[in-house]
Amino acid sequence: MNVLPPPGKKLHIKTYGCQMNVYDSNRMADVLAPLGYARSDSVAEADLVILNTCHIREKAAEKIYSELGRLKLLKAERAAAGGRLILAVAGCVAQAEGAELLSRAPCVDIVFGPQTYHRLPEMVARAARADGGVLDTDFPAEPKFDFLPEPSGTGGVSRFLSVQEGCDKFCTFCVVPYTRGAEYSRPAAAVLAEASQLVALGAREITLLGQNVNAYRGDSPNGESWGLGRLIRALAAIPGLLRIRYTTSHPRDVDTELIEAHRDVPALMPFVHLPAQSGSDRILRAMNRGHRVADYRSTVERLRAARPDLALSSDFIVGFPGETDADFEATLALVRAIGYAQAYSFKFSARPGTPAALLRGQVPEAAKAERLAALQGILAEQQRAFNRASLGRDMLVLFEKAGRQAGQLVGRSLHLQAVHVHAPAHLIGAVVSVRPIALSANSIGGEIAA
Ligand code: SAH
Ligand code: SF4
Ligand code: F3S
Repeated sequence: MNVLPPPGKKLHIKTYGCQMNVYDSNRMADVLAPLGYARSDSVAEADLVILNTCHIREKAAEKIYSELGRLKLLKAERAAAGGRLILAVAGCVAQAEGAELLSRAPCVDIVFGPQTYHRLPEMVARAARADGGVLDTDFPAEPKFDFLPEPSGTGGVSRFLSVQEGCDKFCTFCVVPYTRGAEYSRPAAAVLAEASQLVALGAREITLLGQNVNAYRGDSPNGESWGLGRLIRALAAIPGLLRIRYTTSHPRDVDTELIEAHRDVPALMPFVHLPAQSGSDRILRAMNRGHRVADYRSTVERLRAARPDLALSSDFIVGFPGETDADFEATLALVRAIGYAQAYSFKFSARPGTPAALLRGQVPEAAKAERLAALQGILAEQQRAFNRASLGRDMLVLFEKAGRQAGQLVGRSLHLQAVHVHAPAHLIGAVVSVRPIALSANSIGGEIAA
């Protein structure tokens, strides 16, 4: 006679913010799997809901409270039906607000920061027993990575892998050094082992992650200290790993080793996210970015000399305190000089506890909005021009999954453009030459090249 297993518990994770949170959410699921939690897309059937949050701008942080308002009702409904829903808040809002979050939203059972999720089983057990909130926003001496299980799950062709965390740069606008703590690099052997596991699970592309991924300095298997370029060379030797990317890099930490990796390692994709933030030296100084416009431009030149088909993306902040029309014009001039394949841009958001929040010369909202619209207009035009220019040539696409239409696959070009093609499903995980034929708003349509 077959004995059915007891019905499993369901875990729903909602992820906000950057790719590091996407990675962390996957790892939280790995940590909770041995407790019987299976991941679910449905919040309605979840026994445990984790909001993995972002604190980078005010809007991002405020979203969490409206989401918690909805979850509070769900939790009450569940309790009325004799059930139990455990609510947890993770990530950078949890780290920044800690106990305050528990008192502002008493429906929350667990608050934990980005460096303590290896302790989740214990926190969940405590929350299941107690009625009071569980808080763990330490920066433990032991790195969480040493306690995480091997990655599991059904895989996915393109996966993230955190190699570096935290930030010591203290740009004056940014919360990350406070929410993620000091810079830490994982040992190269641990990175190589995790990458091999991901490839065994079906990954063909790995994006190395870090708040300052190119500040990576990890102990190597032979006792040296490796930078990111050296790590990439070692990763490129893993059989089956076709593509390597990294993000986010800081202009200050682009060294010769990394530039040479772009020249020598074919698996390293010719696409770099290199946030400039501003094109004005005066503003870059006030931001404490540690580089000038000329440094940024020469770094880009060196990267392009090493890999002529290299394309760039960036982040920009408009309306930093004290930014004049002339400073903003300098940002537009930098954008025109570089020519980006894509870029993100934001209005400066004053974050509590950061030095820039207290600076005089805060820019009025209307001026910020006007500058953002002007900048985004130019960036969108550059992105269209970049995509139009790719129409003439066949492109190498790594197919990741089925597309929205039947018989369609979607993948990414070398330059991270989304491409959809009618192609057989067995090509998922393969790099295929595609003839681009049509541009749509967010992707390129193509056909398999002869
Ligand atoms: N480590 C990366 C950036 C991480 S945060 C780097 O140094 O480039 C991602 C982006 O959010 C930043 O590049 C910046 O453009 C934006 N950002 C960070 N803090 C901000 C703030 N207070 N207001 C507006 N945008 C901000
Ligand atoms: Fe924030 Fe600057 Fe660190 Fe990037 S380098 S995470 S912007 S403090
Ligand atoms: Fe946001 Fe934290 Fe990432 S503040 S951008 S989730 S490091």
